[in-house]
Amino acid sequence: MGLVVSTVQYIFGVGRDMDTPDEATGLTERQKDAIRASWALVSINLKGNGVSFLIKFFQDYPEDKAFFEAFKDKKPEELGDNPKMRAHASTVMHALTSVVDNLDDPECLIDILKKNAQSHFGRNIRIQQYKDLFETFIRFLQEGLGDKCTDLTKESWEKALGVVVSVIESEMTALSNGPTK
Ligand code: HEM
Repeated sequence: MGLVVSTVQYIFGVGRDMDTPDEATGLTERQKDAIRASWALVSINLKGNGVSFLIKFFQDYPEDKAFFEAFKDKKPEELGDNPKMRAHASTVMHALTSVVDNLDDPECLIDILKKNAQSHFGRNIRIQQYKDLFETFIRFLQEGLGDKCTDLTKESWEKALGVVVSVIESEMTALSNGPTK
């Protein structure tokens, strides 16, 4: 019974401070809930949505396809058939799931993001490509979720992805400055 009551209280925010920004991320509990709720909808078809999102990304930013040897010359309508493209779509979606799962554990999130920055820096990918990807992501959410993507949903994701960008950017800056003595 106690568990039921506390779960209901949690879901409806009873007794939770919903509007004080978290020190590490700047996100409030209300914003974190909005992110989790929208991601639950996207996750109903994580793989399919990932493929549609990445196809949209390459339509919005065709120049970013150049980093992908396996499909850089493919037309947008051929991308869904490419296994390397589907693999990258899948990993991006799983990484976004880890962002959502770790909204309350920023130290873990930072570690995941730094590793991602390191592996991509070596491929000449820079912060602009991540900014491109996340701009498409917000439009993808709005188009996919329609009315369910409220102003709160959009502003919450923008804030969270702003944190993601700043972690990746500072790691890439450290990498471009070379090893510290
Ligand atoms: C949330 C953002 C992203 C995530 C989670 C992600 C994740 C990954 C992972 C897990 C891999 C394979 C293993 C590795 O080397 O780390 C990979 C490979 C790669 N990523 Fe990303 N990536 C992201 C964004 C980007 C962006 C913005 C670009 C460029 C526009 C990009 C380009 C690539 C390329 C070219 C590869 C190698 C692909 C291959 O060899 O088939 N990634 N990514």
